Amino acid sequence: MSGSVDAHLDWSPGGGRYELAKAIRAAIRDGRWRPGDVVPSTRALARDLGLARGTVTKVYTDLAAEGYLRTGQGAPTRVATAGAEALAAPRPGGRAEPAHRWTLMPGRPDPSLFPREQWLAATRRVLQHTPTESFGYGDPRGSLVLRTTLSAYLGRSRGVLADPARMVICAGFSHALTVLGRALGDIGITETAFEDPSVVRFRSLAAAAGQRVVGVPVDGLGLRVSSLASPAVVVTPAHQSPLGVTMAPARRTALARSGAVVVEDDYDGEFRFDRQQVGALQALNPEKVIYAGSASKTLSPSLRLGWLVLPRSLVDPVVAALSLSGARPPTLDQLTLADLISSGGYDRHVRRARLEYRGRRDRLVAALPSGLTPRGISAGLHLVIPLSAAVEAAVPVAARRHSLEIATVGSQRIGVGDGVGGVIVGYGAPPKHAFAPAVEVLLAMLRGL
Ligand SMILES: Cc1ncc(COP(=O)(O)O)c(C=O)c1O
Repeated sequence: MSGSVDAHLDWSPGGGRYELAKAIRAAIRDGRWRPGDVVPSTRALARDLGLARGTVTKVYTDLAAEGYLRTGQGAPTRVATAGAEALAAPRPGGRAEPAHRWTLMPGRPDPSLFPREQWLAATRRVLQHTPTESFGYGDPRGSLVLRTTLSAYLGRSRGVLADPARMVICAGFSHALTVLGRALGDIGITETAFEDPSVVRFRSLAAAAGQRVVGVPVDGLGLRVSSLASPAVVVTPAHQSPLGVTMAPARRTALARSGAVVVEDDYDGEFRFDRQQVGALQALNPEKVIYAGSASKTLSPSLRLGWLVLPRSLVDPVVAALSLSGARPPTLDQLTLADLISSGGYDRHVRRARLEYRGRRDRLVAALPSGLTPRGISAGLHLVIPLSAAVEAAVPVAARRHSLEIATVGSQRIGVGDGVGGVIVGYGAPPKHAFAPAVEVLLAMLRGL
């Protein structure tokens, strides 16, 4: 059982909503408010700090959206488990070895599939043939060679209308969110909606970049566009992360025409197994939809390579924010990726990886006990096994007992959602040899729940 927090906060009388949120974030990051702990009631904290209760409620709602707290109807508010662990500062003297023997963590490709030989050959070609100018600082938007190559690739593979002049290369989607958060702020947009549920880390990055984060529910047809009231929204329309549903055509059209700036996170669009490819939402309204892609699933998250295709009006603010972020992926890696794509090696690798992940998904689904039917389409590197909220609550302890690293839908929620929980099985994460035993461990854990 977790306890309740020692309510100590670094707090000076006279502070307001912003200071309170900052103090609570610091208490969670420093480990004074620990994952799972019940936090003080809004009434008690408001009284102790001399604030209006509505102010404290607002701060709790914001921190839940950022992934620091878990709120639930009728349940006490707690420090979030997965989010808080991810956000906590590393402890000095922390263990270097992995905390789990098995992993089925969502959001990760099999690191053993990385095409080392092809990457090496592409690097060699780049080093032999690239002009000396490539070793300077280069264009702040990223290598023109990569932007031109990606523009053709995204057009043919995902139906994106990608003019290289409107593209920027960034250090993955995470960096893109930091840059976009700032750029949107610079043009007066300070609130960004995220799907509920969605990846906690991304919500935290948007919040750290100055955006107020709010949740919009997801149902079987994707984001509930009619509930969207923010000027900007981040969505995963091809394969909702984590629930795995595809956004229905009418909702895609409604979202593209909603007037909001839409960030289309196309994180695993290459991995659709049922041959029903859904093209990018961006093509429906390139002046409102930002297309975001990343090499993290197709190749490796270690590359830190991602790209944005921008509406014309956002190019200058985004390039300015990108320059001010002080980070840029190495030009040599950008050129190597461009070479891999134009030589056909990237397509061959994606086809091989698609076959591997599709096989894993099929084997996993076949191994599930009858009665457990995964939610969502046949695609990507993860699936959700629906569980009641009560069963889901037992997953973190059971997983720890089995030395299995795995996530739950509840850990990615902002509000209470539709009340259906589940376990998110990242079948892409283990190296090939560890996939079958990891599934065995998962089944043993599910039997014990
Ligand atoms: C939903 C989603 N979008 C995007 C990404 C890629 O993020 P990045 O490019 O920062 O590695 C991931 C990876 O975990 C993801 O799960």
